[in-house]
Amino acid sequence: MSNYGPKVRAEIYEEINIPKDARLPISFGGWKSAAKRVLNEGAFDYIESSAGAGYTMLANREAFYRWRILPRVMVGVSERDLSISLLGYKFPFPVFLAPIGRQELFHPRGELATAKAAADIGTVFILSTFSSQSIEEVAAVMGDAPRWFQLYWGKNYNLNLSLIERARKNGYSAVVITVDNPLLGWRPEDLHNLYPPLILRRAVANFITDPVFVAMLPKPPQQDMEAASELVAEISRNPNFSWDDLAFIRKNTRLPILIKGILHPEDALMAINYGANGIIVSNHGGRHLDGAVASLNALPKVYAAVQGRVPVLMDSGIRRGADVIKAIALGASAVLVGRPYAYGLAVAGDKGVKRVMRNLIAETDITMGNSGRRSISEVDRSLVIYSN
Ligand SMILES: Cc1cc2nc3c(=O)[nH]c(=O)nc-3n(C[C@H](O)[C@H](O)[C@H](O)COP(=O)(O)O)c2cc1C
Repeated sequence: MSNYGPKVRAEIYEEINIPKDARLPISFGGWKSAAKRVLNEGAFDYIESSAGAGYTMLANREAFYRWRILPRVMVGVSERDLSISLLGYKFPFPVFLAPIGRQELFHPRGELATAKAAADIGTVFILSTFSSQSIEEVAAVMGDAPRWFQLYWGKNYNLNLSLIERARKNGYSAVVITVDNPLLGWRPEDLHNLYPPLILRRAVANFITDPVFVAMLPKPPQQDMEAASELVAEISRNPNFSWDDLAFIRKNTRLPILIKGILHPEDALMAINYGANGIIVSNHGGRHLDGAVASLNALPKVYAAVQGRVPVLMDSGIRRGADVIKAIALGASAVLVGRPYAYGLAVAGDKGVKRVMRNLIAETDITMGNSGRRSISEVDRSLVIYSN
């Protein structure tokens, strides 16, 4: 039994002697403002920014506003259980840490801090292809704690397979292939700040430690980081990634494959037919395709199409416990959070990530209980209605 709500609330009350200004924030807005105070403008905008007018980011939030909980009462909720089983593993709660690249920009310990926080609380950390620390360095701080590796399928197939194999050897128990941004989105703030080109060098850790990549360079990366960064820029993304490539990946790894960035039910079915073991319904937090449908609104149709053949996860716009419960009710086996923990990392390193996550889980627990549900398996479609 989890009963996180009362436990975390009691921990927060223990800070009674700390002045309000010195306490860590609670709400998403509080973390975001605190992050804005500690980060330089480019880094803050990089986390916050979305594609185009930001309509998809707004749509994500609006969808959570539109779906409303229809609770049941007097069902006896003193004991509650947030745990789930997924892809053969048991997890204490259904909230994971989404892949976010270049975390050294937000905190000097970067992904190592996030990985440590994930290991401490027992949730999955999904390491980005474009991490500031390598697959091996991150694994080393996580012990046996659960972790997955996110891959952008690049142009060199041997390099792609080498990255997957390194992940497998280092205890990552699934590979997440992100498919929703064949082209980098048009993000006005990042462009104005000239940000992505300047941060490229922070995103090369997995490449400069890879034997296939190093063999492609005329000189060792340490002697010519410029050339190494340029090669990463040239080959690390592949706008022609296709279903046949997915079949190729399937043939070449035994790791479970999750496809991240699906919104259309037919794409979910294609992914399963080509060997995916899980679907992540996501619009990348609105960062690449402005005008795309809200992730939460895409979820029920994908879930219906998949018919339980593989688990369906979801991200984009999760900020509070009620959001987690609504996503589960609409068919998600688990959800990922992105920006909330990036702000936590910026404000207080691993402690900040842990706090953001524990608060979110506590609120999820309380929302579940106050909805008249005792466990995640009782959170189903009958719990939510759409309100125009
Ligand atoms: C700063 C930042 C960097 C990201 N980098 C990656 C990445 O490298 N790979 C990936 O699959 N998704 C990446 N994402 C998307 C997240 O995995 C996730 O889909 C998104 O943040 C969820 O939306 P949310 O921020 O509203 O929770 C990134 C998101 C942010 C905010």
